[in-house]
Amino acid sequence: MKTIRGISVEGKTAVVRADYNVPVSGGEIADDYRIQKNIPTLQYLLEKGCRLVIVSHLGRPDGEYDWRYSLTGVMEVLETQLDRPVDFASDFDQVDSANTITLCENLRFHPGEEANDRDFAQQIARLGDVFVQDGFGVVHRAHASTDAVTEFLPSAAGLLLEEEVRTITETMDNPDRPLIAIMGGAKVSDKIELMRRMVSRADRMIIGGAMANTFLKYHGYDIGASTYEDGQEATIADIYQQAAKKRSEGNMIWLPEDGVYVGKTLDTSARSQASATDQVGAGDYILDDEIPGSVLDEIKNAGTVIWNGPLGMTEFPDFTHGSRAVAEAIKASSAKSVVGGGDTAGFVQQHGLLDHFDWVSTGGGAALDLMAGKELPGLIALPD
Ligand code: 3PG
Repeated sequence: MKTIRGISVEGKTAVVRADYNVPVSGGEIADDYRIQKNIPTLQYLLEKGCRLVIVSHLGRPDGEYDWRYSLTGVMEVLETQLDRPVDFASDFDQVDSANTITLCENLRFHPGEEANDRDFAQQIARLGDVFVQDGFGVVHRAHASTDAVTEFLPSAAGLLLEEEVRTITETMDNPDRPLIAIMGGAKVSDKIELMRRMVSRADRMIIGGAMANTFLKYHGYDIGASTYEDGQEATIADIYQQAAKKRSEGNMIWLPEDGVYVGKTLDTSARSQASATDQVGAGDYILDDEIPGSVLDEIKNAGTVIWNGPLGMTEFPDFTHGSRAVAEAIKASSAKSVVGGGDTAGFVQQHGLLDHFDWVSTGGGAALDLMAGKELPGLIALPD
């Protein structure tokens, strides 16, 4: 992949595609990790004497202006992190070439963005001389600012995109053994492809979170009122079949069969209660997993750990036992550790655990797709 280190950018105007799709709560940016991780690319370009026109999306405003998804709040964070003034352009015709750094308003206020419209892509391209893709979190989308724009400007990957792709690809393709994959989150169906790939590459798969409920039910456990996904029996059977080809299925795949934490409700008043997995009450919700010391020891002795999906309803502090235990075990290990983005990265950041890992991806769906071996349109669009 061609990167900004391999092209001449000196003195040019760079259109930088970032992914500033950050959580906003009460008008405030609740987590600026994605912005932070894009800063080295911006600094590199500034050091090369570039003028920057930065474009991003935020949320899903459906092609129309919606103040709730304005990037003005992001501009303030950018100014603080760059320690330089950042101009804000409410539309492309407001970009003033006298300013060194301009952040444009949300691309998704225009229907052409998600439609991968070539005319809209040309409008983006007219903002500069070179296109820099640094929005790793959005390269699984074929949109005007990830795909079509590369037809109209010389294009290259930014430093964050380069590091994300290199780290995730190398970790998947050439892991130090044993490789332990920790898979959580809500739905089996969201992660089928990743599970299939993992089962063929990993030495051990730890399955937890709401996804484990579907597996437990498959094995005949009574999971009370817990969330699970219907119609996944054939997929699960297939995963076990693949696992059995490598090792006996009991060894390859771990489920929270010894103990779980249950709640009586699904709201914020939920309080955790430890339960044996085979003693879950009729009205109980399994909301967290107990990870036995033997599994934590395996993690501590791993060569590589890839973690995708929280092991419990981590929105509630009471249901973070499983995820915290795993995070601590990873910290105590000398394994190379990679956390797939989205909810898992959110958990890690909110609990101040970022330094426990070698790499915490800024991508949610993009990290998942890259780990699963899918082709990502925004990467294919970039020249080799
Ligand atoms: C993400 O947060 O996963 C990316 O920014 C992509 O957002 P999207 O799912 O709305 O396309």
